[in-house]
Amino acid sequence: MDLEEIIYKRRTIRRFKQEPISLVTLKKLVDFARVAPMARNVQALEFIIVENAEMRKKLFPLVSWAGSLPKEQRTPENGREPTAYIIVLVNTKIKRPFVDFDVGAAVENMLLGAVSFGIGTCWMAAINYKKIRELFEIPEHYDLKQVISLGYPDEESVMETYKDSFTYWKDSDGKMHVPKRELDDVIFKVY
Ligand SMILES: Cc1cc2nc3c(=O)[nH]c(=O)nc-3n(C[C@H](O)[C@H](O)[C@H](O)COP(=O)(O)O)c2cc1C
Repeated sequence: MDLEEIIYKRRTIRRFKQEPISLVTLKKLVDFARVAPMARNVQALEFIIVENAEMRKKLFPLVSWAGSLPKEQRTPENGREPTAYIIVLVNTKIKRPFVDFDVGAAVENMLLGAVSFGIGTCWMAAINYKKIRELFEIPEHYDLKQVISLGYPDEESVMETYKDSFTYWKDSDGKMHVPKRELDDVIFKVY
């Protein structure tokens, strides 16, 4: 897959096959994050890789899925949960003002890298920060930023042209539809 294909193919995935992702691959994704652009090249981001079944089971109820969908369509069903997670932390001992941009760049590197390996991801901020901190015994000098849920995709998600709502929706076949504004609508001006 070339980069263009990867960028357009990447969609948030919230249903996963129960085929494990190798630790080598998960570490490779963190490596993609490691080399992302960082303001002033200050590298405060660190990551927790979660592949252990018991920890995954404990983490699963601490993340919230697809808040825009009707309740019954949100959470992955039994047997379709993520098979791994990557938790994004900021080591505040080396924190810098632009760190949230650094997080965005690092996460996107991981999401695109995942697509290149055939892996689906869900970038998650609707998470129980307090309980996740407790579960992983995250020290106070680390900020917990987001959780990336990962697994081999067990659902399809497609882009469609934005009409009058940004709300993504699921059709009767379980296929996700994600409205995106057209290119000409987001180019404010060309000089
Ligand atoms: C910062 C951020 C936080 C997000 N948090 C969640 C979340 O907590 N739960 C979830 O199901 N999706 C979450 N998403 C995924 C978005 O809903 C998704 O990116 C959006 O609907 C567009 O779909 P697409 O990624 O397929 O383009 C988040 C995305 C971003 C960028």
